[in-house]
Amino acid sequence: MEITKAIIPAAGMGTRFLPYTKAIPKEMLALLNKPAIQYIVEEGLNSNIKNFLMITGRHKQAIADHFDIAPELSQFLKEKNKLDLIQSIEKIIKAAEFTYIRQSEPLGLGHAVWMARHSIGKEYFGIMLPDDIISNKAPALGQLIQIAHQEKASVIAIQEVPNECVSSYGVISIKKQISGSLFQVGNLVEKPQQKDAPSNLAIIGRYVLSHKIFPALDEVSRYAVGELQLTDGISQMIKNNEKVFAYKVQGTRYDVGTPVGWVKAIIGLALQDPNYAPHIRDFISELHSTDVRLMSKSRNIFHHVA
Ligand code: G1P
Repeated sequence: MEITKAIIPAAGMGTRFLPYTKAIPKEMLALLNKPAIQYIVEEGLNSNIKNFLMITGRHKQAIADHFDIAPELSQFLKEKNKLDLIQSIEKIIKAAEFTYIRQSEPLGLGHAVWMARHSIGKEYFGIMLPDDIISNKAPALGQLIQIAHQEKASVIAIQEVPNECVSSYGVISIKKQISGSLFQVGNLVEKPQQKDAPSNLAIIGRYVLSHKIFPALDEVSRYAVGELQLTDGISQMIKNNEKVFAYKVQGTRYDVGTPVGWVKAIIGLALQDPNYAPHIRDFISELHSTDVRLMSKSRNIFHHVA
């Protein structure tokens, strides 16, 4: 079983990041000097993915431009002997193949994935949600691919979340625990209320799925109200007697679809990068000591008033 294709659903409107996302795709938010989606593609390449199927929509041209050659820029940098500035992206353009599929209407994640059905054969493939940046030496998708090979089945990435957060995620119920990090999934529920959640094991944005997801999504779409959920398609696959596993991937996950998650990602990634880390560490300790001074000042004022 060779897994060389990944779908990247990038058609969302980015409402959690307005007004920034009014004219600029959220996938192009800068994380240090690279757009968020470049981290996703790099993780894919490090996981042996060669074909990226991008599901895009209107106002997403910047993504296609980023993953394409720019002859004038290359020529300009060559003359100045500064080609290293675009080395990381040129490497990607050489190694990867991109296909762009337009999702004209926002009909849900399940629908976005379904749009790529004609580009996937009778094979297993990856799905990478670009809001979820997972930082780890061993790439998150690669970890799932390894489990998919081992179990010869679909596998989704999960992490434990606090009970009060389950309603922001798809949540799994466990059929069987295989090891500390690996579970066979009984069922999945998309964004349940806390009281209805079958566990606190939340789906995070990496999947390796069998092509059988496509007929399952067809089945679910017949009675779906509103958006077609990928989670419901995977549940249907289980009802159709396909095995699905869930794996607690190793790594730090950042949800860069919100301003707070994005700021955390920048700080977290900067602290791991020797070019940035010393500056950011110094800056944080300066801020911290200013904060402590301010806090003790306000305590003094408080004592004064009291
Ligand atoms: C999507 C999935 C959800 C998953 C989440 C992870 O939701 O539908 O099951 O838990 O991604 O980020 P979204 O955040 O796109 O609403």
